[in-house]
Amino acid sequence: MKRILLFILPILILVALGFTISGIMQARFTEERLMDDLKRKARSVDEGLELSAKYIIINNDLKQANRLVDSFQKRERLQGCVIYNQDGQILAITERFSDFKERERPYLKDILSSKNPRGALEKFKEYSVYSYILPVLDDDGSVLGMVEVIYDTSYMFTTLTELWRKISISSIALILLIVLVALLIQRQIFIMPVRRLTQWFTHFQRGETDKLQPFEEKGEFGKLVSEVEQVALSIRVARRTISDEAHVRLQKEELWTEAKLKDLIHAKLGDNSLFVVSNREPYMHIFDENMGKSICIRPASGVVTAIHPILSACGGTWVAHGSGNSDKKFVNSKDKLGVPLEDNRYILKRVWLNKAEEQGYYYGFSNEGLWPLCHNTHTRPIFRESDWNMYKEVNQKFADSVLEELPASSPFIFVQDYHFTLLPKMIKDKRPDAKIALFWHVPWPTPEAFMICPYQNEILEGMLGCDLIGFHVQNHCNNFLDTANRLLESRVDTEKFSVVRLGKETFIRAFPISVNAHIGDGSFRVDPIRQVEKLRKEFELENEIVAVGVDRIDYTKGIVEKILAVDRFLEKYPEYKKKFVLIQLAAPSRTHIKRYHDLIGEIDELVEKINWKHVDGNWKPIIYLKKHFSQDDIQPYYKLGDICIVSSLHDGMNLVAKEYVAEKDDLSGCLILSQFTGAARELTDAILINPYSIEDFADSIKLAIEMPKEEKQRRMENMRKVIAENNIYRWAANIISELVALKNIT
Ligand code: G6P
Repeated sequence: MKRILLFILPILILVALGFTISGIMQARFTEERLMDDLKRKARSVDEGLELSAKYIIINNDLKQANRLVDSFQKRERLQGCVIYNQDGQILAITERFSDFKERERPYLKDILSSKNPRGALEKFKEYSVYSYILPVLDDDGSVLGMVEVIYDTSYMFTTLTELWRKISISSIALILLIVLVALLIQRQIFIMPVRRLTQWFTHFQRGETDKLQPFEEKGEFGKLVSEVEQVALSIRVARRTISDEAHVRLQKEELWTEAKLKDLIHAKLGDNSLFVVSNREPYMHIFDENMGKSICIRPASGVVTAIHPILSACGGTWVAHGSGNSDKKFVNSKDKLGVPLEDNRYILKRVWLNKAEEQGYYYGFSNEGLWPLCHNTHTRPIFRESDWNMYKEVNQKFADSVLEELPASSPFIFVQDYHFTLLPKMIKDKRPDAKIALFWHVPWPTPEAFMICPYQNEILEGMLGCDLIGFHVQNHCNNFLDTANRLLESRVDTEKFSVVRLGKETFIRAFPISVNAHIGDGSFRVDPIRQVEKLRKEFELENEIVAVGVDRIDYTKGIVEKILAVDRFLEKYPEYKKKFVLIQLAAPSRTHIKRYHDLIGEIDELVEKINWKHVDGNWKPIIYLKKHFSQDDIQPYYKLGDICIVSSLHDGMNLVAKEYVAEKDDLSGCLILSQFTGAARELTDAILINPYSIEDFADSIKLAIEMPKEEKQRRMENMRKVIAENNIYRWAANIISELVALKNIT
């Protein structure tokens, strides 16, 4: 619009200027012409009256005089006549101009003495009139008197106004015509070709190659079109080659690596693009008050830890809530950006939520309702109707945002977690060809526990829009099948592990999630020994045995129980005072929720109390680091930790346990792991604890410290083997292979 304005505005200004100047000239010319006519008319009427006036004055025939001036009274418009005697006194005057009698008219004397006629414009009441006064002479040339005719000039102004009206109408009509023609030209030579090119590209992007029509454009635009076609062709050829090569390599390689997953995705999905939907985004831009600028952080989230390596390896689009306060500054016009920032591997599309949406959908329904519903931690779920309504709206918003991106055929959509139970059905209803998998990163409760949710049916129906639903462990799958069986009108097939509802089948499978550990690949950016030394120096550690804990501050993580266990351990085994320290990394989380807010205060108080109880000189048992840590920041703590304590009261998997093991390439270290985590099913060589049993928990710390080195190494080796074999690439490959096998995408 701006461009077209720039183009037509100068033309419009010139046209308007031309019209104004010619209008002024025409008006002036018309005015002069009308005035001349008037003068001529007045003069001839006056001259016509001169003779009659002469006899009237000579005979002093007032009766005749009045008859003469009265004849003007009957004329249309404002017209009149005055007869004067030789002294300039009025003998007779047309009634409507009788006011003239009162007027001082000094020029009458001049006319009488000069004997010259006088014509001039005069004001009469609110009218403008033209008066023409002619001296009446006798045969000797002496002045007998004067005769005056008066004409109304207002019709001249009416004529001029009419003229201006016509000029304005024609100039407006011309301007409109110019605008119309300019818009048509612009549409024809600019908008239409660009629209055709955009459409062409949209078809290309969506994989609708059958709809690609060849372009026949000339000139500069033709060159642009030709370049675009060349780029598109190269992309198509490259995609095909990658996919063929991937098929070949996939058959050769045995270990699940980043490259192998990439090959699998190219081979199995080919041109079918991969879309991930999650609430938490993998990269978040926030304004750092201290630095005075925006920084990019990686949020603490199991979902982010797991999915990021997959998209980094395979590309695709990740749709997530843009929750950083500077996020909007870093996206393009379609709310997208390439990430990682320094090396764009995939697209992050940010969806914006307003405060009310975030409150209702995220804090309210997802985290005060579903989160405690799924975790056995004795925190009461809160279900508010208003939160549920917002949750539905936000699911629809995300569904629309994903639908906008989908290519023409068979896209693969990988939905994450409890924030999007309704989204699969919303997408499936619009795009039945889309292959949808949902991975549930938290535990699935028993039917009895789930039944308290007032929206149980809608949630289950929404989830059954998926082709595949994944849980971490078989027990969660069983709970889900039981729930569907008991609460929905559906058929549960226990042979195939599927739920059939309204003719649609959804498969339920366990896929234990993992980490991207390339065990032994030394993926540290800085020398690990130096990093560990740096930490020891920073915390003034000498030979203390270090236990590490890495958690979001969440009541499910058992942080309070961990601190109580350390307290009990030191009470029971005081010989470890000054020889043992727990470094607890704690990332504040969901702090607007009261339960989380209170927990932060509770932990602060407890740490302070226990440290005060056991403090000895410079030594205190708990180093509590409450802030956000990036993945890179955490790595050295794993290296430093002789022990890692994961004490969740209930956890879908818990990737911290796996990350710790993956980091211990020297086979040092010992993992204390809650039996209520999904990870406990796989990492059976950890020291398994019941975090509620503080006494046993305290003893487990002693056991971990005193365990012989060889035993520790043996256990660590076993656990590393489990993780090496079941890494995050295998996890993703299993889900994709399962989905492809179910639906036969290729
Ligand atoms: C769990 C959930 C994730 C979530 C993460 C962090 O791991 O399964 O979906 O991202 O907690 O919580 P937050 O609410 O900060 O995203």
